Amino acid sequence: METSSTNTLYERAEHAARTIRARVGGEEARVGLVLGSGLGAFADDLEDATVIPYEEIPGFARSTVEGHAGRLVVGRVAGTPVIVQQGRFHFYEGYALDEVTFPVRVFGLLGVKSLVLTNAAGGLNNSFKQGALMLISDHLNLMGTNPLLGANDTRFGARFPDMSEVYDREFQEAVICEAQAMEIELKRGIYAALTGPSYETPAEIRMLRALGADAVGMSTVPEAIVARHMNLKVLGISCITNMAAGVLDRPIDHAEVMETGKQVRVTFTELLRRTIPKLQ
Ligand code: HPA
Repeated sequence: METSSTNTLYERAEHAARTIRARVGGEEARVGLVLGSGLGAFADDLEDATVIPYEEIPGFARSTVEGHAGRLVVGRVAGTPVIVQQGRFHFYEGYALDEVTFPVRVFGLLGVKSLVLTNAAGGLNNSFKQGALMLISDHLNLMGTNPLLGANDTRFGARFPDMSEVYDREFQEAVICEAQAMEIELKRGIYAALTGPSYETPAEIRMLRALGADAVGMSTVPEAIVARHMNLKVLGISCITNMAAGVLDRPIDHAEVMETGKQVRVTFTELLRRTIPKLQ
């Protein structure tokens, strides 16, 4: 019997990967997805779906936030085999970044080559409106920490991984092309990640704007860093669920974030459905 406490992160990730393989068998997923707040419904429509609750996977934490289901769904999207994290773990929930990014480690060991990261974010760019979709072109890691801190396991990747193209250019072109075909507006911009869980002050939003951010959120960046560490190609899409603090003269609340996620569901789902087969 494997005991998780004494094993290395790599061994724990392998154990989880073996458990998932034993449950699903068949063709291996090449594309992994992480669904953000209010965007989890995408996983409900997978073809040939197998659902695995996190509590049945060794090494997985539990999701504690409303709007995050807490299960992996393995299936197909337009014929392409995918593995989907329906409900992510956030740093603000008190998880270590090793726990937050554990599913991405496991995806990598399962043979996933392409990772789609989605999130709910606040909009800073004045050309954005609530409900807009933003393709992430780059990020600012303002979480004050990094998921790769500590000893490096070269079985995962290099000690000093390059971050000059975190969000794959060809993937960006693929999603832009699909958005054009659908005749929907797709914004493009820089995502700044803060720890949360408090939303930003108007002064912080002015600071983030001065730093070049177009959107702000509390996730995605740790997973993107770990994915690049393992040499997975990354696509990032933010749903602008609200304009950031101080942009409009009204407070931000989680219910609104969730509600906007629901409203963009059809467009968002269709954009992903069309893009996923191109992420090879
Ligand atoms: N700030 C930070 N994270 C968020 C926001 C926001 O305004 N909206 C959704 N996630």
